[in-house]
Amino acid sequence: MQIKNFKRESIIPLPVTFISTLSPDGVRNVAPYSCLMPILRPFDLICVATAGVMRDTFDNMKAKEEFVISLPGMDLAGSVMPTAKFVPPEVNEYELAGLDEKSSQKIETPGVDGCYAWMECKLHKIIADEYDNFPYALVMGKVVHLEVRDDIYNVEDGSWDVEKAQPLMMTESNQGMHFCTVKDMDWFEPYGAMFPNGKDPLAGMYED
Ligand SMILES: Cc1cc2nc3c(=O)[nH]c(=O)nc-3n(C[C@H](O)[C@H](O)[C@H](O)COP(=O)(O)O)c2cc1C
Repeated sequence: MQIKNFKRESIIPLPVTFISTLSPDGVRNVAPYSCLMPILRPFDLICVATAGVMRDTFDNMKAKEEFVISLPGMDLAGSVMPTAKFVPPEVNEYELAGLDEKSSQKIETPGVDGCYAWMECKLHKIIADEYDNFPYALVMGKVVHLEVRDDIYNVEDGSWDVEKAQPLMMTESNQGMHFCTVKDMDWFEPYGAMFPNGKDPLAGMYED
């Protein structure tokens, strides 16, 4: 079946994240963001796609040059829509959504407590443009501190327990968003399997 070209994001399961920012006056802002991706495996860069208007998050990212991406599990699904509603920039969205702050290690902006992982980011680059007269931006952050909940992470091999973390994700339909999570297939392939010599050229990066 052929469907409309613009619906490309509705058939990709997307992560639901909370991006927290601080306004220049110190107001705490939290908003859900799903259009984000890590930029290639060796890098510590992450890219977020944002509307260029009506986003306090984007204004704060530009002004403070830092932000935190917190990754919630299914248990925080109820806090997504309260943070997605349009509210004036002077509203503390932690209070609005009943979320608690998690202090950050390397930046001033706090993350969201109760998530399963946190990426503290400093602004790396903004690519701002318009498409069909609509302003948007790709915001690249450099991860300066990455933290994951101890009880879901295996320090031996760097794997994590998706069944326990229950990462919050979503798909879309014509009327809105359908929240879902991840199921482990119990199928593993080493990075080395992609290379002719069977060795991962980036293997050294994972050593302490
Ligand atoms: C699950 C979900 C994912 C979203 N993802 C994005 C996104 O990737 N980019 C974006 O610009 N807006 C996204 N939004 C919309 C913003 O969260 C929403 O406009 C919010 O009010 C922005 O808040 P702010 O003004 O405090 O930045 C998403 C909303 C939801 C519910």
